[in-house]
Amino acid sequence: MGEHTLVTVDWPQSTSTLLGPNSLANSIGDIHRKRRKVFAKVFSHEALESYLPKIQQVIQESLRVWSSNPEPINVYRESQRLSFTMAVRVLLGFRVSEEEMSHMFSTFQDFVDNLFSLPIDLPFSGYRKGIRARDILQKCIEKAIREKPLCSQGKDYSDALDVLMESAKENGTEFTMQELKESTIELIFAAFATTASASTSLIMQLLRHPQVLERLREELRSRGLLHNGCLCPEGELRLDTIISLKYVDCVIKEVLRLFTPVSGAYRTAMQTFELDGVQIPKGWSVMYSIRDTHDTAAVFKDVDAFDPDRFSQERGEDKEGRFHYLPFGGGVRSCLGKQLATLFLRILAIELASTSRFELATRQFPRVITVPVIHPVDGLKVKFYGLDSNQNEIMAKSEELLGATV
Ligand code: HEM
Repeated sequence: MGEHTLVTVDWPQSTSTLLGPNSLANSIGDIHRKRRKVFAKVFSHEALESYLPKIQQVIQESLRVWSSNPEPINVYRESQRLSFTMAVRVLLGFRVSEEEMSHMFSTFQDFVDNLFSLPIDLPFSGYRKGIRARDILQKCIEKAIREKPLCSQGKDYSDALDVLMESAKENGTEFTMQELKESTIELIFAAFATTASASTSLIMQLLRHPQVLERLREELRSRGLLHNGCLCPEGELRLDTIISLKYVDCVIKEVLRLFTPVSGAYRTAMQTFELDGVQIPKGWSVMYSIRDTHDTAAVFKDVDAFDPDRFSQERGEDKEGRFHYLPFGGGVRSCLGKQLATLFLRILAIELASTSRFELATRQFPRVITVPVIHPVDGLKVKFYGLDSNQNEIMAKSEELLGATV
């Protein structure tokens, strides 16, 4: 809570340079506050509603591709591709072709791989590779922005950049092309590894706990969203409907508690201060650990168990204190994309429960490693099947049986 007064962000030089001077990561104090205010509109309820069809479409397309592959897929790698595509589509709309998207994806991986490198600008150094990747990405983004039709009017936003530009104007400022490019890359960076890690953990937990998957299906059925094994007749989801699905919400919360994608963050002490009777001298590095907090918070009963019901209205274990459950951080630097990330994960859970059948393609579940973000050591090999007509029939029958029992 002492951001900007007691502590401040402290990124390595390579990360600061590659993200650029206009990024949130490099902003402190008033400049940071103002930038966040402008960004807030990008993740408002209204804006999310307008991104929803795009997010659903990107997820459905990916699940279709995964299901049509005769071989098991590497879930972590494909989830990275999926979260990258989602971030680019939401930010830049559909103005990026498939070919450009693949090129951007591999360039972006070079960028991320070298974000934390020795800041030595020599041919073949990681830092130089990172700079080259950043420059290519900025060119692609500039092209997409220049080809963009004029900002859409009213509430029907075309993409997040429209919202960002409009919000900047409302706050009495205008983004330069350089600021737009840096902001786009920063948002894609913030969304990329985190959302991919959480998507992979979600799929792994649904495989480990088939009863949880069945309860997701039950919730969709009971809300009239699942008919004959397919997502609601028109296949269209409303934001309010998604948010009101209580069990879906519990599952996502539990995935983010047990498999927290961001393990914590570093700060530097701006002045000497005391915390719980311990003195932190000025200039020291401080790390707040999200993972250790989740692992040790006494409010969580049977802390290692995957138990989505701990977040139910009756139990509400996360309601017992402000800082025991913090997958998205806390204070003035908490995650700006939290609503977008949870919306994406909820839609993924809904689509998995309603349109996919999937099974583990290895004998055992893989070990999980935590660096750079939590993920299965082999990426998680899974065979996906679409729900074919036969499967739809089986599900329709079980629905009938369920109806008869009720
Ligand atoms: C499951 C997915 C995600 C998780 C777990 C997550 C987690 C976090 C955490 C813990 C922080 C705070 C770091 C700190 O204290 O320094 C953060 C910051 C941030 N996140 Fe996320 N994030 C996720 C997805 C996203 C998405 C999808 C976006 C946007 C497209 C996003 C945008 C940001 C931004 C811009 C910040 C920096 C805020 C600032 O410095 O003021 N995140 N995120």
